[in-house]
Amino acid sequence: MSNSRTTPLRVAVLASGRGSNLQAIIDAIEAGQIQARIVAVISNKKDAIALERARKHGLKDLFVDPKLFAGRPDSREAYDRALLEVLQEHNVELVLLAGYMKIVTAVLVNAYVNRMMNIHPSLLPSFPGLDVQKKAIDWGCKLAGCTVHFVTEGVDEGPIIIQAAVPVLDADSSETLAARILVQEHRIYPRAVQLFADGRLRVDGRRVFVDNVKPDGEAIISSV
Ligand code: GAR
Repeated sequence: MSNSRTTPLRVAVLASGRGSNLQAIIDAIEAGQIQARIVAVISNKKDAIALERARKHGLKDLFVDPKLFAGRPDSREAYDRALLEVLQEHNVELVLLAGYMKIVTAVLVNAYVNRMMNIHPSLLPSFPGLDVQKKAIDWGCKLAGCTVHFVTEGVDEGPIIIQAAVPVLDADSSETLAARILVQEHRIYPRAVQLFADGRLRVDGRRVFVDNVKPDGEAIISSV
């Protein structure tokens, strides 16, 4: 059964850069398409455009400096403990990685099992990691795309929630392909958040099922 929430889902977004996926989620919330509230936007980069976007929309923005924890053997875990404190302080129910270019450790992963999502610009499990649009072109793929998945300790490895495919054109450069994929990212990430907020995602091992899919073919898997 869909869960009709009485209060908006409390979401935090972790982002390192441009923040266009953050913007897509802000826009979907402001348009009333997602029953959620972004209670914090956190970055490991002081000058991330994502933080500017947060401020522009009156959202709490927070830079947590990795240098504060550098030099200790558990620097990555210590960093994530600091983030976890913030997330817990704000009663965050769902964490969204949106261009967050820092590997999250077990500290965060275990605190947010099936409650932390990431968006990745490839059709996972093909091409985890970096420069994936170029890799798709170089492999001669005919389809590329993007994936929203739950976050586990393995990088880009968690259960897949939603994917969108785009064609790879002969004339594509990694930039043109990335731009075409990004349009789809902005469609599927808000959609995944909405499904979560509605209580419709069910995880069974590696598989994520969507409850109450409408018989009229509600788009769960989208391709263009
Ligand atoms: C997006 O393309 C996202 O899929 C990718 O970084 C970009 C961030 O853009 N994430 C990853 O590669 C994570 N493995 P944005 O800052 O404009 O949302």
